[in-house]
Amino acid sequence: MYRVAAENISPERDASAFYAHSMELSSGLSRDTAASTLPTLGQLLKQVGDVREEATGGDETPGHDQVLVDVGEPRSIPFVLSFNNLTYSVKVRRKIALPAIMRGQRRPSPTEVDSLDGESFSTKTKTLLNDISGEARDGEILAVLGASGSGKSTLIDALANRIVKESLKGTVTLNGEVLESRMQKVISAYVMQDDLLFPMLTVEETLMFAAEFRLPRTLSKSKKKMRVQALIDQLGLRNAAKTVIGDEGHRGVSGGERRRVSIGIDIIHDPIILFLDEPTSGLDSTSAFMVVKVLRRIAQTGSIVMMSIHQPSYRIMGLLDRLIFLSRGHTVYSGSPTNLPLFFSDFGHPIPENEDKTEFALDLIRGLEGSPGGTKSLVEFNKSWQIMKKHTNNADPVDQQGLSLKEAISASISRGKLVSGATNNNASPSSMVPTFANPFWKEIAVLSKRSITNSRRMPELFGIRLGAVLVTGFILATMFWKLDNSPKGAQERLGFFAFAMSTTFYTCADALPVFLQERYIFMRETAHNAYRRSSYCLSNVFVALPGLIFLSLAFSATTFWAVGLDGGFTGFLFYFLIIFASFWAGSSFVTFLSGVVPHVMLGYTIVVAILAYFLLLSGFFITRDRIPSYWIWFHYMSLVKYPYEAVLQNEFQDPTKCFVRGVQIFDNTPLGAVSTSLKEKLLENMSNTLGVTITNSTCLTTGSDILQQQAVTDLSKWNCLWVTVAWGFFFRILFYFSLLLGSKNKRR
Ligand SMILES: Nc1ncnc2c1ncn2[C@@H]1O[C@H](COP(=O)(O)OP(=O)(O)OP(=O)(O)O)[C@@H](O)[C@H]1O
Ligand SMILES: [Mg+2]
Repeated sequence: MYRVAAENISPERDASAFYAHSMELSSGLSRDTAASTLPTLGQLLKQVGDVREEATGGDETPGHDQVLVDVGEPRSIPFVLSFNNLTYSVKVRRKIALPAIMRGQRRPSPTEVDSLDGESFSTKTKTLLNDISGEARDGEILAVLGASGSGKSTLIDALANRIVKESLKGTVTLNGEVLESRMQKVISAYVMQDDLLFPMLTVEETLMFAAEFRLPRTLSKSKKKMRVQALIDQLGLRNAAKTVIGDEGHRGVSGGERRRVSIGIDIIHDPIILFLDEPTSGLDSTSAFMVVKVLRRIAQTGSIVMMSIHQPSYRIMGLLDRLIFLSRGHTVYSGSPTNLPLFFSDFGHPIPENEDKTEFALDLIRGLEGSPGGTKSLVEFNKSWQIMKKHTNNADPVDQQGLSLKEAISASISRGKLVSGATNNNASPSSMVPTFANPFWKEIAVLSKRSITNSRRMPELFGIRLGAVLVTGFILATMFWKLDNSPKGAQERLGFFAFAMSTTFYTCADALPVFLQERYIFMRETAHNAYRRSSYCLSNVFVALPGLIFLSLAFSATTFWAVGLDGGFTGFLFYFLIIFASFWAGSSFVTFLSGVVPHVMLGYTIVVAILAYFLLLSGFFITRDRIPSYWIWFHYMSLVKYPYEAVLQNEFQDPTKCFVRGVQIFDNTPLGAVSTSLKEKLLENMSNTLGVTITNSTCLTTGSDILQQQAVTDLSKWNCLWVTVAWGFFFRILFYFSLLLGSKNKRR
């Protein structure tokens, strides 16, 4: 009965009813900023039940109420995440230091002994997680505690499927079923330790973009807005909603607020499992408490919350349900916070009355780590204590008859969770939820909108770029002012073209930091399928193009007439097109590099070096017919070659135009200095000798001769233009592959 009732209601309708209600609630409560009076998602979800009852005319079976979150009442447990015998080791390659070799094989220090496994001294195996087991249930917060370096982040990574399968031993199951990667991406969220946010967007905008990425298209914009507003209230961000995030250079929201925004982005679609790596580090105790309180509320809406935490305060401890204490990758305690005193008194180290429980535990663990036996005794004691507890305490049996994964997800979706276009009437769990919430074009639209908003908030970036292009154009225009058609003028034209074409590429280098800055945001977003990588590449193109058109126009307009280039308006049009194509190819090339280099400085070094080689082999310094055959491949790869040859042809294509006439033949030779009458005599003698009449007005070198001399003969100007454009596409495709291969943020 319940299944039928649940399936009759489309998720969209559910969600809209839910948001309508949450909106009513939040608008009523938003004036009241006290966090305690804000509705929890659990309460909000209760409203869904009421709405659904209205929708079905109250024809609901008690079975449905059972799956509704009702904190405090006993209910079946829909989700149990168990992990068993997780072991993760890495191979550590030691640098072979010269003194060590000379001294022979050095004996490892005692601290290295327990992690040493292999025989070879140059590579050793370090065990970061050692046989860790445990369980987390929805409605609860599982906290991983331990000193720095104990393996907390590693454990969270292991559970969040951020370690490659081959390296991680043991099993992680949800309701007894191994989670496939695609499914995990959709139903879980991982909040990184660092807040990776766009500094110039406001809190509300940041959450709204997240909503547009992660919530399905079927949900109208107003519903998405409502979800964002409800989330802002839930996260206690009402007062900071219109403030920009900020960074080192711009004042923005506080650290605690930023943390909550980071969490908000990842829970926008209401995930079933939420992983957080130290969500409270760097926050004062009140902000930290606020964050954990928010997490508690999220858990109560039917999510599993799992986080690592350095040293929880007394108040925070009160919000945690399960603890795992780690020491050098071993579990030293796992259980509820209330059992902690009993555990340590059984171990023979009772916690003194007036001492903080966690502080005592961490101090004791640290003390043991420093002792000769290490924490081995505590690890062993924990194992036997767990077994003993299992035997003596039958009141807390493992819920064997919990729902299957499919049923649990289905029930969860019908409660309004996982707002990602999910349907609950398919056969397998993985087909219940689509991989991406939105279609391709929608992702491009949202990504472009976000980029444009970002650039509009930082107009100085484009301003600097335009300034650089205009200054270069101005210097070139004045240096090569109104070149004439003499042999010298022709020579100077060649120099102008070589320089102008390579500067268009150099000014593209500032595209380099764009992706490098965004890279980690991109990785976070794509790790959970917020959008496709291809959408990112395309939106990158769409956003860049208008700027490139503007820059090309600015550059060509400042130089074309000032230098006195040939071809009139059609000549200018082609000149503009080829400069635009160069900007396009250059920016694509630099964007591709930004996808593969790890650091801005390295990126600049590579860009500058490669562009210098491109220029060297473009055919300007050494013409194609004189380039050594073993470098000729680089000549064809040179991005500067094609636009350079194109502008040369655009300039020298007119067959009637003359660049060396009569006595000008002696210019640039030692005879250039003699008087004109002598030159005319020489010309006459030459005519007689050669048997052809060469007068002072005879044209000796036309534009096509110059093209021949420069060996610009293999491609027409239009073909050069197309090749340049094609290079741009080629590098964009390479950029896409670099994103595909380079953004796998899993540990090996
Ligand atoms: N790739 C690796 N190679 C070698 N050692 C590693 C590697 N990754 C992590 N470690 C080591 O594993 C241990 C656990 O690291 P982890 O980041 O999980 O610690 P943590 O408990 O999260 O510490 P913190 O509280 O400082 O964040 C550390 O000693 C770390 O140096
Ligand atoms: Mg850590």
